[in-house]
Amino acid sequence: MTNYPETGRKAPAAAETTLLTNVRPYGEGEAVDVLIENGEIAAIGADAGAGKNIDKTINGAGQVLLPGLVDMHVHLREPGREDTETIETGSKAAAKGGFTAVFTMANTMPVMDQPVIAESVWAKAQGLGLCDVHPVGSITKGLAGKDLTEFGMMARSDAKVRMFSDDGKCVADPQLMRRALEYAKGLDVLIAQHAEEPRLTEGAVAHEGATAAQLGLRGWPRVAEESIVARDALLARDYGNRVHICHASTTGTVELLKWAKSQDIPLSAEVTPHHLLLTDDKLRTYDGVFRVNPPLREEHDTLALRQALLDGVIDVVATDHAPHGSEDKCVEFDHAKPGMLGLESSLAVIVKLFVEPGLADWRFIARVMSEKPAEITRLPDHGRPIAVGEPANLTLVDPEARWVSDKTQLESKSENNPYEGIEFGARVTHTLLRGHLTYELDAQDN
Ligand code: DOR
Ligand code: ZN
Repeated sequence: MTNYPETGRKAPAAAETTLLTNVRPYGEGEAVDVLIENGEIAAIGADAGAGKNIDKTINGAGQVLLPGLVDMHVHLREPGREDTETIETGSKAAAKGGFTAVFTMANTMPVMDQPVIAESVWAKAQGLGLCDVHPVGSITKGLAGKDLTEFGMMARSDAKVRMFSDDGKCVADPQLMRRALEYAKGLDVLIAQHAEEPRLTEGAVAHEGATAAQLGLRGWPRVAEESIVARDALLARDYGNRVHICHASTTGTVELLKWAKSQDIPLSAEVTPHHLLLTDDKLRTYDGVFRVNPPLREEHDTLALRQALLDGVIDVVATDHAPHGSEDKCVEFDHAKPGMLGLESSLAVIVKLFVEPGLADWRFIARVMSEKPAEITRLPDHGRPIAVGEPANLTLVDPEARWVSDKTQLESKSENNPYEGIEFGARVTHTLLRGHLTYELDAQDN
């Protein structure tokens, strides 16, 4: 077994030997068989299983094999809001979406600002063995934006916290952000910023533009995001550490990221499936499901974000899976809580936008949904090549499935599904974590 020194205690790899037959790694070339032993890929080829005692055979039916997906940004709500999602339901949703590792944000109750909370999340998820759930530590105590948390203690804990974020809130104080970057630098941990200048978004519930004006909704201007992205790019330049921009949502942010990258500033960024696919036109029904932070924007923003992902200006897709109960969503738009589900449909959304129209191939999907997020978060055992000796964290995708997103079919405990009724053409059929089958598409699933 490969030794992965950076990770904390993990659930053991599968003891059984599994043979995936007739699969196409990265959707390329002839179909092959993949032998999995002790949680690792042991052989790839037409005769990979020859002479072996196979415990389990999975018929790949010519489907696309990808490295297990990695989501840098989810909210699993435990501890505190287990009525909307738990580590267990969130892990099941992740496995169904093809994910083998996720990062769960710190805005829990209590806030993940201490090692003991992070360790309990990590240990619980490992006990379940469905997905590696990496807790994100908060940057400030209680997300109050005043005092930094103990990054070092959380980084050294068994949870091995490697990302810190006050997501849901912006670290608005520039001096505090500077100190956070300086502190993070010595530990090589990632600071992820929810870019929203709070003075510019007081009372805002929708993108500031024609739609919000027509609907009588208070607007959230692009500059609230862009001003923080620009500031943090300059802080990253001058004080050295990496900064990751959560859920980039505007054309201007794309321009700033381009500039920062041209200057070799260590700035990375993610974009959500919903900001790539949906616009503020969805708000016309006043359905609270479409309230999200940052808000759905205009068509030119979605087009700029798509191009930026294709060009590598935006590094990764992250879902910002944010479950909320109906009491917080089926209410007046102004009172709805921001956030939408994403884990179970993200791959299908990205394939619909990029692979189906021929703009990108499956290597691109592997890059933006597995390899890059694992690289940015320094995960040694996810986002790895599909090759002998590598961990068997794998996702099998039917590229020709036809299915309609239906909130009653979700593993998530919540139903705030922004893709309700949309037809998709790709679907995860199997997910494996260290050789364990963590999800298998049921014939009854629509
Ligand atoms: O829409 C959002 N919901 N954006 C965030 O940044 C936080 C998240 C949540 O926690 O619900
Ligand atoms: Zn979030």
